[in-house]
Amino acid sequence: MLIDGHGRTVNYLRVSVTERCNFRCQYCMPEKPFSWVPRENLLSFEELFLFMKVAIDEGVTKIRITGGEPLLREGLDKFIKMIHDYKPDIDLALTTNAYLLPQTAQALKDAGLKRLNISLDSLKPEVAHQIAQKDVLAQVLKGIDKALEVGLGVKINMVPLKGINDVEILDVMNYCRERNIKIRFIEYMENSHASKTIEGMHGREILEKVKEGHTIRALGREGASPSFNYLLDEEYEFGLIDPHKHDFCENCNRIRLTAEGNLIPCLYFDEALSIAKAVKEGDIEGASEVLATVLRDKPKENRWTEESLEEGQDVSSRAFYETGG
Ligand code: 5AD
Ligand code: SF4
Repeated sequence: MLIDGHGRTVNYLRVSVTERCNFRCQYCMPEKPFSWVPRENLLSFEELFLFMKVAIDEGVTKIRITGGEPLLREGLDKFIKMIHDYKPDIDLALTTNAYLLPQTAQALKDAGLKRLNISLDSLKPEVAHQIAQKDVLAQVLKGIDKALEVGLGVKINMVPLKGINDVEILDVMNYCRERNIKIRFIEYMENSHASKTIEGMHGREILEKVKEGHTIRALGREGASPSFNYLLDEEYEFGLIDPHKHDFCENCNRIRLTAEGNLIPCLYFDEALSIAKAVKEGDIEGASEVLATVLRDKPKENRWTEESLEEGQDVSSRAFYETGG
């Protein structure tokens, strides 16, 4: 079992396989970064997998593949199969913008993938275009349909932004409700890479929009999930991820690995230790030592605050496209 310096059990590893993306979402990567990680610095799937085996052997039971956009990395289905074959009962999920799903969903399912989290911020083509800075909606909707058709579990993420997609909160939720898939609203997390012109919505404000014409009942958090769940009209469950409250940090069960091998204990902070040298040398003990150190020093909580939401203070400098949210 993996226990961190604050006594929390860590059983969830998020692995970013690329920081590249085919979208330029305003809250994440509005401009192409000044420099990408050079391709030669990327760990190969075999190298990432070596570390993942160490983590699985020591207690990780849940793995999520993220990016950037993970489907841009060639051979991803083979990587998923490697993980699945090593431990078929692992809870194996992927976060994607869905753009490439129409042509990849079946292979992902066949490789052993169980679930997908998909970003869907708008159902209006021009608003989706404004947020992702590309005409994406038709292809994204096709991707969601394909994922459902091949039998992958689907959850939707929506980041409500004031004056952009805030009027669509109920519409996107209804789209999900009709398909019997869960939606999670995510508070925009301020970060220095995002567009300076956008303004997020507080969880409270999101719930107020939902309440227009509906009843909601608080259900609570499920396990270590950062999502607080609500029941809409006594029948449909949705979630709210509100990192500006820190109450889920006390149950945090996760660490993150970037495509170049940085092991990151908390999404907010820049601190990380590299496992690259260890895995390139096939040094399992070395990889395990880095893991132990990162767990020992995992911060108690993030530093997004209610004030940062209101005054633009305390902005994280960690790029979401490196860690996949
Ligand atoms: N704030 C909140 N959520 C974000 N994501 C990316 N950047 C941010 C941010 N700044 C989330 C989106 C997307 C997932 C990949 O990460 O919900 O669906
Ligand atoms: Fe790409 Fe996802 Fe970031 Fe949008 S949020 S730019 S889809 S990595």
